[in-house]
Amino acid sequence: MSALPEPFTLRDARHADLDGIASLERLSFPVPWKPDYFEVEIGAPWRFNRVALFGGTLTGYVFCAFAGGEVHVNKIAVGPAFRRQGVASALMDEVLAFSTRVNAEEIYLEVRISNQPAKAFYAGLGFAEAGRRGRYYLDGEDALVMVRKLAGPRRLDGPPAMKGDSGR
Ligand SMILES: CC(C)(COP(=O)(O)OP(=O)(O)OC[C@H]1O[C@@H](n2cnc3c(N)ncnc32)[C@H](O)[C@@H]1OP(=O)(O)O)[C@@H](O)C(=O)NCCC(=O)NCCS
Repeated sequence: MSALPEPFTLRDARHADLDGIASLERLSFPVPWKPDYFEVEIGAPWRFNRVALFGGTLTGYVFCAFAGGEVHVNKIAVGPAFRRQGVASALMDEVLAFSTRVNAEEIYLEVRISNQPAKAFYAGLGFAEAGRRGRYYLDGEDALVMVRKLAGPRRLDGPPAMKGDSGR
């Protein structure tokens, strides 16, 4: 597990975080997602949406959804001033713990073919390349699909019980 030193903290994403998330989106992605996406996801069922704070400053976030036995990482970003300090690793540790709690078979995500830092980050966490989605992004770039297999069995019964955003 990655442990972040004080004053870093992690907690569930809230609607009050939307402005900070929008700022980090603009700093982190060539085509930032609209705040509406995050607004809808916060508090939606079968989601795991966490933010990292440095004192009172939003420094990063991860937005995930659980469906069909798989956890999909929709978004992860850390503010440029806070990178290479283990923030994204700590967020992904939480995603892994959530995925284990819901007995997921795997965690998967898409990453831009050109995004070498993110690909290196995911590879270091045990994600393997599992395919490519052509022109996945709005600007026409392809996505690499990366997957981390988990111990969760192929589910024959219904999904496990889960309440609220993260179950915390
Ligand atoms: C990818 C990203 C989330 C990583 O966040 P981070 O908090 O800096 O990551 P961590 O500090 O936890 O890094 C853990 C390890 O990942 C690897 N890594 C992270 N950033 C890297 C980089 N720029 N180049 C190479 N390896 C990198 C390293 O092995 C690093 O360990 P180290 O710092 O001890 O060498 C961050 O760079 C980011 O927000 N990028 C812009 C948004 C983005 O691309 N998101 C992913 C979209 S799919």
